[in-house]
Amino acid sequence: EIPVLQDLHGRDHAYLRISLIERCNLRCSYCMPAEGVPLSPKSHLMTYEEIYDIAKIFVKHGVTKIRLTGGEPLIRKDIPVILEQLSSLPVELSITSNAVIIDKYIDILKKNGVNNINVSLDSLNAEKFKHITRRDQFTKVYNNILLLVKEGFNVKLNAVLMKDFNEDEIIDFIHFTKDLPIAVRFIEFMPFDGNKWDMSKMVSYADVMQLVNAAFPEKDIERLTDAPNDTSKNYKIKGYQGSFAIISSVTNPFCDSCNRLRLTANGQLKNCLFSSGESDLLTTLRAGNSIEPIIQKAVQAKFKVRGGMDTLKKLQEPKLHNNNRSMITIGG
Ligand code: GTP
Ligand code: 5AD
Ligand code: SF4
Repeated sequence: EIPVLQDLHGRDHAYLRISLIERCNLRCSYCMPAEGVPLSPKSHLMTYEEIYDIAKIFVKHGVTKIRLTGGEPLIRKDIPVILEQLSSLPVELSITSNAVIIDKYIDILKKNGVNNINVSLDSLNAEKFKHITRRDQFTKVYNNILLLVKEGFNVKLNAVLMKDFNEDEIIDFIHFTKDLPIAVRFIEFMPFDGNKWDMSKMVSYADVMQLVNAAFPEKDIERLTDAPNDTSKNYKIKGYQGSFAIISSVTNPFCDSCNRLRLTANGQLKNCLFSSGESDLLTTLRAGNSIEPIIQKAVQAKFKVRGGMDTLKKLQEPKLHNNNRSMITIGG
């Protein structure tokens, strides 16, 4: 008998990403179209009780890590209760946030053992930040990142790279890790509904390394050992406190070691970031039926690579990923 969370390629899924909300206090262009996305009616969103009930089932079947995403997870009013309930489970609880309001949540995060915080930040320049996020919140985010470090959190920065936008900041971002113990992760821009992706806008892993090799002597560039199931290839500059990394989902997918499943804010299970199909856990839960058979079926339907888009050529077919959501309602 195949375990509930094991797929047909032998992958076990111990990491559940839960999107808590479809709304955000920023409007990043790679994540959502300018006009926004249609939102689920409130009655279709998981309540905190439902989040907890579903999470417990995943934990029963082997999930040991839960990451909360959004939209922006911290703008959910009941986030303190959600954190408190999930922290009672035997999991590593983490969060991915834009950090705009995270200063108000320091104590709550600490109290619930949330030590790992990934912050989305695509530019170190206030004007550019405003351009990409369509909001003027750079100073707040920047200060909050420093605050998180000072408060002892393990901080990773996520920077989505885009040609002619922020590739000229790659080295600045690495310099930013000189005196700060943070990991900056450069992410290859990926295609989702409404983000006008095209291969030519992407900055690749190879592009990043070319710039790094030109900026630092070879002997100072150290390849670190990646953690099991890591999304990133990790490096550091000798003597720097922090590190940098590349998340190369497009040019170098890491699907072989994928251990992730996703639960959307409206209670749909996605077996892959790129899956077009979804499984409705919430309706089944509300009907009082067991969600386990649905989870098992969804996991077994998981494609080996990127929801079936195993080649770059397929990734470039808009019709293949237009059945997917906008990133804002997937959660990364
Ligand atoms: P850690 O728990 O710190 O390793 O974080 P993470 O990389 O799992 O999550 P985060 O929310 O910080 O996501 C960083 C980037 O990695 C985002 O662009 C995500 O879309 C991408 N990412 C996360 N998980 C996956 C995955 O399973 N597959 C792919 N292709 N990309 C992923
Ligand atoms: N391509 C790559 N990464 C993305 N993210 C959001 N949209 C995209 C995209 N189109 C990243 C953000 C966020 C993380 C959860 O997902 O950097 O930190
Ligand atoms: Fe896993 Fe899909 Fe990401 Fe590949 S693209 S690592 S299968 S979630």
